[in-house]
Amino acid sequence: MKFFIDTANLDDIKKAYKVGVLSGVTTNPSLVAKEGVKFEDRIEEILKTVPEVESVSAEVTPDAETAEDMIAQAEELIKINGGDQNITIKLPMTIAGLEATRYLAKKGVKTNVTLIFTVNQALLAARAGATYVSPFLGRLDDISEDGVQLVAKIAELFRIQNIDSQIIAASVRHPDHVTRVALAGAHIATIPYSVIEQLVKHPLTEQGIEKFAADWKNAVQN
Ligand code: E4P
Repeated sequence: MKFFIDTANLDDIKKAYKVGVLSGVTTNPSLVAKEGVKFEDRIEEILKTVPEVESVSAEVTPDAETAEDMIAQAEELIKINGGDQNITIKLPMTIAGLEATRYLAKKGVKTNVTLIFTVNQALLAARAGATYVSPFLGRLDDISEDGVQLVAKIAELFRIQNIDSQIIAASVRHPDHVTRVALAGAHIATIPYSVIEQLVKHPLTEQGIEKFAADWKNAVQN
């Protein structure tokens, strides 16, 4: 399973990129709005910050309601990157979103269908040609449904049906989600920087580092 970072915050993206585990970035309108910056400018900055990742997801804005609106926005977003392959157009799981996914997939543009909460939605997105499908597990957990189970079922279905769309486990809230979606067969987990930090840390690692430092200091003093 690969890691994407789920943020529009440049500092967090830079920190995660430096760690060397980052394969992509996902953003959404709420994450961009939080930064108080112009959407297209931030996407351009992100693309420049992480030139070697496989995918940077830029979501069409909520005012794009028809497939035509979404495609028009996608075409502008693709230009930001000079047509390079790592920009991925993120589209909502709606009829219009699926139509736009089909159109863009046929043009060879990477797509990420977002806000997926059922296996059937994932199947539809895959059949429309989505490069990535994004089930939101945390938001399902929030309403007392098992988000990880959804990821597991989508992974099983894609295996049985030989579907090659990649599953991005999204709305990931903590390290246990990460372990469980990896075991469930997600291809990617998109996670905030705070979860990357949590994944690194363990109290015994910290204690171990402190003990090595103390022993080393004593030995040097003797
Ligand atoms: C994924 O692409 C979304 O941006 C994200 O994971 C949503 O997460 P949230 O439910 O924590 O807002």
